Amino acid sequence: MTTPVNVTVTGAAGQIGYALLFRIASGALLGPDVPVKLRLLEIPQAVKAAEGTAMELDDCAFPLLKGIDIFDTPEAGFDGANIGLLVGARPRTKGMERSDLLAANGGIFGPQGKAINDKAADDIRVLVVGNPANTNAYIAAASAPDVPAERFTAMMRLDHNRAISQLATKLDADVTDIKKMTVWGNHSADQHPDVSFAEVAGKPALDLVDESWIADYFVPTVAKRGAAIIEARGASSAASAANAAIDHVYDWINGTPEGDWVTPGIPSDGSYGVPEGLVFGFPAVAEGGEWKIVQGLELSETTKAGIQRNVDALVAERDEIKAMGIL
Ligand code: NAI
Repeated sequence: MTTPVNVTVTGAAGQIGYALLFRIASGALLGPDVPVKLRLLEIPQAVKAAEGTAMELDDCAFPLLKGIDIFDTPEAGFDGANIGLLVGARPRTKGMERSDLLAANGGIFGPQGKAINDKAADDIRVLVVGNPANTNAYIAAASAPDVPAERFTAMMRLDHNRAISQLATKLDADVTDIKKMTVWGNHSADQHPDVSFAEVAGKPALDLVDESWIADYFVPTVAKRGAAIIEARGASSAASAANAAIDHVYDWINGTPEGDWVTPGIPSDGSYGVPEGLVFGFPAVAEGGEWKIVQGLELSETTKAGIQRNVDALVAERDEIKAMGIL
């Protein structure tokens, strides 16, 4: 039998965890022939709830699921991990300043990055879902000096999928007809969803929609979709976030389809003027387990401004965590 892949999921007892674990165990994360072992990492108060989820996973008798272990320290949770899905984070509560949020999450993602550095398998690949995802991924990467920084990524795929869905709905097209969507930047309301390079059944999207729809409807609808879901559902996106995490990792490992690209949040190599190291949403393809930023795109002034807005926001977060002594 193939050796099972160790997948560590933090925040396993949370909403996204509940939507994610069953799909990982069913084979959706890595493929239908790849056995997995789940390592659930939670805070001590939530271990009992994680045990309940583990009981349900057992009850599914998934053929590919070769074990479930539950931990409450990052060192144990990431021991031998091949894939880390960092979902658990400190949410912003009423009256909390942004600096408090960054400090609280620095206290989570710093130690988790260090544990990954010290304990994870050599081929570890990390997707940070917990918000602020881009900066949390930056903190984790900076706390793991022995792991190549490009193994730390942040989830922009939900924004990417939302953008595809909005364009498909507008044009009454099938989602599979839409290629080369991009969401530049940060997983926040600052993000810059961009149809400039998108194709719809082989035709340029820019020939099919007008600029006012893009500026007045598409961009704000995609960027504020998370808030609209909270408003409607009374809880934040969970199943769609879990689905996006599956899409991100599946493509990273198995490669993106020929003639298309997707949006991961990945450390910048300086492309498109984004300072090196910032974890940023870029158009990218995956090949051989590595993300490569799509090069040579001619950016409009609007896209350049959208990128700059996101650079400014992420540089401010980076400088704030450095000033607080988190890194
Ligand atoms: P939730 O509150 O239902 O679950 C979070 C879980 O994380 C809880 O069970 C909690 O005990 C656990 N946790 C907290 N600190 C932990 C730590 N240090 N180690 C291990 N576990 C820890 O939240 P939900 O809905 O599952 O969302 C999780 C995160 O994902 C949030 O930060 C949310 O903002 C973010 N998110 C990100 C999206 C993206 O596109 N990047 C989309 C949707 C949500």
